[in-house]
Amino acid sequence: MKVAPLRLLLIEDDEEDAALLLDELQRGFSVNPTRVETPEELASALSGGTTWDLVIADYLLPLFNGLEAFAQVQQRGLDVPFFIVSGKIDEEVAVAAMKSGVHDFLLKDRLGRLIPAVARELREAALRAERRGIQEQLLLSDRLASLGLLAASVAHEINNPLASLMMDLEFALSSIRGETIPDEGVQALRDSRDCAVRIRDIIRDIKLFSRSDEHRLGPTDLHRVLDSSLRMAWNHVFHRARLSKDYGDIPPVHGSEARLGQVFLNLIINAAQAIPDGRVHENEIRVVTRRESAESVRVEIHDTGPGVPVELHERIFEPFFTTKPVGVGTGLGLSICRRLIVEMGGSVGVENHEGRGSVFWVRLRTAEAAVSAAPGESVEQLARGLNVLIIDDEVPVARAIKRLLGEQCEVTALARAQEALRLITSGRRFDAILCDMLMPEMSGPQFHEALGQLDPEQAQRITFMSGGAFSEEARSFLDRTQASCIEKPIDMQRLAHLLDSVPRKAPGN
Ligand SMILES: Nc1ncnc2c1ncn2[C@@H]1O[C@H](COP(=O)(O)OP(=O)(O)OP(=O)(O)O)[C@@H](O)[C@H]1O
Ligand SMILES: [Mg+2]
Repeated sequence: MKVAPLRLLLIEDDEEDAALLLDELQRGFSVNPTRVETPEELASALSGGTTWDLVIADYLLPLFNGLEAFAQVQQRGLDVPFFIVSGKIDEEVAVAAMKSGVHDFLLKDRLGRLIPAVARELREAALRAERRGIQEQLLLSDRLASLGLLAASVAHEINNPLASLMMDLEFALSSIRGETIPDEGVQALRDSRDCAVRIRDIIRDIKLFSRSDEHRLGPTDLHRVLDSSLRMAWNHVFHRARLSKDYGDIPPVHGSEARLGQVFLNLIINAAQAIPDGRVHENEIRVVTRRESAESVRVEIHDTGPGVPVELHERIFEPFFTTKPVGVGTGLGLSICRRLIVEMGGSVGVENHEGRGSVFWVRLRTAEAAVSAAPGESVEQLARGLNVLIIDDEVPVARAIKRLLGEQCEVTALARAQEALRLITSGRRFDAILCDMLMPEMSGPQFHEALGQLDPEQAQRITFMSGGAFSEEARSFLDRTQASCIEKPIDMQRLAHLLDSVPRKAPGN
């Protein structure tokens, strides 16, 4: 049995023991090991950005022990299979280890159990990760659904009395026309009517945001949506910053008014919350729209808050990531935004402003581009009979591509690159592999490297999908490997072209 390269963190001071353990492990897995000896080395390995698949620690080390090492892993909230190996039987230690949550405890001279135990724990960890993902999704949709329902029913209830109020005011105003009533009284009635009109607009906006049947995607007037979001967010904004609009000449975009409204409301409230109260004239929230290319439109929300540290640019989009106090933020806003935008075929991200503040950008397809790229026969026809693997941690993206490729094409969609490696190791072959560049555990480039070692023929069939923002590293990776890359939102013409050029029937199928 040979399985995908495991990123192993080995905490062991004795080189000979390390070699023995690796020999044993390599009988079942291909391993990419890193060895550390001290608490400091362990700390930097854990915070260095690598996603470890497995940690194995010697129990007795010169500067600390396996249990202390495990505590470090736990403190970081990492859910990674952790094994302790020990030179001798010490029942107390073994019991303490298992009680503290260590996944297994093995003796160095009896490593026969190692491979099945590792396989079992990897499986369990994958299941736990999957469960966490499902739970998050459930929470997100719960929150959306209940907010929408509440808002819709409140709006509905207010609407009826409001309608009669407005009619009565009109009636009163028309019936006093010509009569001698003090001007003040007439003015008060007119003001009341204006207020009622404003309330009506707010109610209309709330309904726009919560109409659950309104999620069909179609040509959408972005400026109308933005104006409406700005009105809704006004209470958060007016005591913190000036508001400015810099709207370009843009065509309708492909989206849903209600969902886009939700997205921009979140982004504008975030921008307002990033700015302290009271210095209105020193601060600004600016909304910019531009046509970016023939197929896409870009919206930017600029603020003059403190900005987002570069190392958090991706993390802030994770569910429950928040820097706000309990009761203020749930940390769901941006993850919901990203999910909604991705479902519309767009992308969203953050950049720092030169000087200060942050810029949240949203890229959307123009309605026209979406129509010409809609489940076109060409893509479906070209994909017919192909065996395609999609790897993307954003499940809706994979689902959307799957839908577009049609039923004649066999699509396997996975959220994690490790699962793809396991599948290919077990003998599956694909005609085309569409792989996201940025994924939390194993990135696109890391997957490319691992697959290159495992099965170079399959590695050549990878096409990367990218959200647009390229790091230096990603750019040089693409230059170096000459791998093809297609931008999200995915241009169907390009995808069709790409599938057309795929050599049919990968060997081994
Ligand atoms: N405009 C911004 N400027 C600076 N930091 C921001 C900005 N927008 C978001 N953030 C950071 O991103 C984090 C996550 O934002 P997100 O909208 O997902 O959750 P939240 O605002 O904390 O809570 P919620 O939206 O659920 O009320 C915020 O806590 C904040 O640290
Ligand atoms: Mg928020």
